[in-house]
Amino acid sequence: MSRTKAILSSRDFSRGNLIYLLGVEGLERREIFEEASRIKEEEVGNKVYFRGLIEFSNICAKDCYYCGIRRSNGKLKRYYLTHEEVVNAARYAWKEGYGSLVIQSGERSDKWFTDHITALLTDIHKHTQGEMGITLSLGEQTEETLLRWKEAGAHRYLLRIEASSRELYEKLHPGSAAHSYDQRLEALKRIKSCGYQTGTGVMIGLPYQDTSHLADDLLFFRELDIDMAGMGPYIEHAQTPLAGYTGPMLPLKERLGLSLRMVALLRIMMKDVNIAATTAMQAIDPIGREKALKAGANVIMPNLTPVAYREGYLLYEDKPCIDEEAEDCKSCLEGRIHLAGGTIGYGEHGTPKHFLKRTKQEGK
Ligand code: 5AD
Ligand code: FES
Repeated sequence: MSRTKAILSSRDFSRGNLIYLLGVEGLERREIFEEASRIKEEEVGNKVYFRGLIEFSNICAKDCYYCGIRRSNGKLKRYYLTHEEVVNAARYAWKEGYGSLVIQSGERSDKWFTDHITALLTDIHKHTQGEMGITLSLGEQTEETLLRWKEAGAHRYLLRIEASSRELYEKLHPGSAAHSYDQRLEALKRIKSCGYQTGTGVMIGLPYQDTSHLADDLLFFRELDIDMAGMGPYIEHAQTPLAGYTGPMLPLKERLGLSLRMVALLRIMMKDVNIAATTAMQAIDPIGREKALKAGANVIMPNLTPVAYREGYLLYEDKPCIDEEAEDCKSCLEGRIHLAGGTIGYGEHGTPKHFLKRTKQEGK
């Protein structure tokens, strides 16, 4: 029996074993993907959930070294969607039978912003008969804000830790108080303690990162007992400081390969969580997201942001689907999911089984 097979059957996911699994090739690599596929089938089935993605605004108070919408990028035209544009996108998603949506934005926590989101949530709820699952991805927030948004109808929250290693995190962010590792970790824990279905994630193939960091990321997800994960390859954006990094880097294809392996390993370790097939995977390979579905992902986020704004939300270069209207995205995705052997969970929230078990609820 290969060492990979032995680890998978003993389910001993120690740091050393994870580092080993992140590096194997050939037959042993295939053994990982076969195990992930088996567990996915058994635990979550072949249903793929759509989360309509609304990129509400690219105005960001933060200055992460890797991100194209960072505050210091003066070349970017800043926008936010009107109230009506957001509600229309939500109604579109609802009518199309997408069970849920994600509202994402640059990070800020001023009063105008938090009040505006509350009002949007209330209105979306009203215009979709309270049927949509709503995920927020709006950065670090206070308990008061998180509870207010929950009260107004939000169910889930995504806050990527970006890199669970403090040392790596600090290399990717300015040293200011606004970018503190401790605060980000606290914010993530707060999301969970406020009762949200909680998601986090990391970027893969970053400067200074090696497989020991990624093994620690997987252990971090398990330790935090998260419900959802979104992980994807790091892709340079020319108008960011990290694009000037000249040290060793993995080629893009290998960053994708490692991202797929992270998806597979997370599916194996945390059998019943939701895992997203992320857009950054598709930026590297036209069928990157389909590959992620095969590797164990079960969530896809079709973009509902009106096309006129999409150029403004380029977190990294070559972001795909910036010219496609929501309708095109939908039919394109349907075809792709069927090709990857999946069915679509129309009209369902697609609540992670992990969350239902952890909180002992019955859900949609
Ligand atoms: N490459 C890949 N992903 C990125 N993100 C931000 N910048 C990049 C980049 N250059 C990811 C971050 C963030 C999410 C919204 O997009 O992980 O949390
Ligand atoms: Fe906006 Fe990092 S640059 S959150």
